[in-house]
Amino acid sequence: MSLQDFTAETILNHNPYIPGKQPAGLERILKLNTNENPYPPTPRVSDIILEQVNKLNRYPNSSAQELRETIAKLHSVDSDQVIVGNGSDDILNLCVRCFSDNEKSVGMLSPSYSLYDVLSSLQGAETKKIPYDNEKFDIEPQTIIQSGTNLFFVTSPHAPTGRIYKNTVFSSILNEYSGILVVDEAYADFAPNNAVSLLLENENLIITRTLSKSYSLAGLRVGYALASREIVCILNKAREVYNVDRIAQVIAQSALEDRKYFNHIINKIISVREKVYTILKDWRWFTYQSGANFLFTKPIDFDGSTGEEVAENLYLFLNSKNVFVRYFPDDSLTSSFLRISIGKEDEMDMLINLINIWKTKEHLK
Ligand SMILES: Cc1ncc(COP(=O)(O)O)c(C=O)c1O
Repeated sequence: MSLQDFTAETILNHNPYIPGKQPAGLERILKLNTNENPYPPTPRVSDIILEQVNKLNRYPNSSAQELRETIAKLHSVDSDQVIVGNGSDDILNLCVRCFSDNEKSVGMLSPSYSLYDVLSSLQGAETKKIPYDNEKFDIEPQTIIQSGTNLFFVTSPHAPTGRIYKNTVFSSILNEYSGILVVDEAYADFAPNNAVSLLLENENLIITRTLSKSYSLAGLRVGYALASREIVCILNKAREVYNVDRIAQVIAQSALEDRKYFNHIINKIISVREKVYTILKDWRWFTYQSGANFLFTKPIDFDGSTGEEVAENLYLFLNSKNVFVRYFPDDSLTSSFLRISIGKEDEMDMLINLINIWKTKEHLK
């Protein structure tokens, strides 16, 4: 007998999620590969940590009551319509736990956030990946409606392209889909629109959000979902009782309450994003109009070529200069592109300078 004989079948055949590199010695690198926020969180958070440290002998509030009330107020929903998680990944996991099994399948568009697939396979549910038709990354409501799935994940704005979708697409899906639709809005704070208003009329909609990106709190691990009371009730059944710790609850709350700082950071990132977008467009690099804190762009090399080898070449060149961006070689719709997270203005200037060197033959000498 080997340990394999005791291991669950779903684990034996499981391919875990592979995150972007988190290299050590962060000070000497430019990290634009995991869509983190380059700015620190609101300075308010440091004031409240000490107070909570002295209370760490006590368990946190199990349902994160006060935090949920703050989130509810922010989105004009009832606090019973909010559930908080250890990052939005925790919430996505709860969705799969509660709404899929070996008879209830999970659907997703491909390529999108690869964790959906990972969670579904871990649950032992059938996974239906619906490929995007082409580089436009349009969503065809009928393909989701007719997918025969019980749970379906859509990323909006889309990752890795940053493409923005109108709510009419989600309304068309929700009108006819007989399952639970999750709209993963991890990047919605950087976009001109979101799907929150659709919660009023749709009991089968779950919207997930994270504080990792727009609130500069990736290291804290807080995310949440907005949904009908009935759905939140179901998700709570599978939630680990103390899934969000005492310190995370108060830090998240103070970050959400500091609207001035939040707006300031969002505006800065959007303005840098648009500046870089304009440069890439001037270079005639095909780049998606983004509603997120990243840009997805198709590099053109010194002799005017694009494609997989060109994208990989730039990726490796930047890597060799300690500049990390993300490359997705496994799908023909993404393999000629690089995804670049938006950093501070001077960081993006550095990136542009390096790419300018790569664009000439200088770096080959
Ligand atoms: C589309 C999408 N959803 C969810 C997440 C996870 O966010 P969190 O840090 O809240 O777990 C990410 C992280 O990169 C993401 O890209």
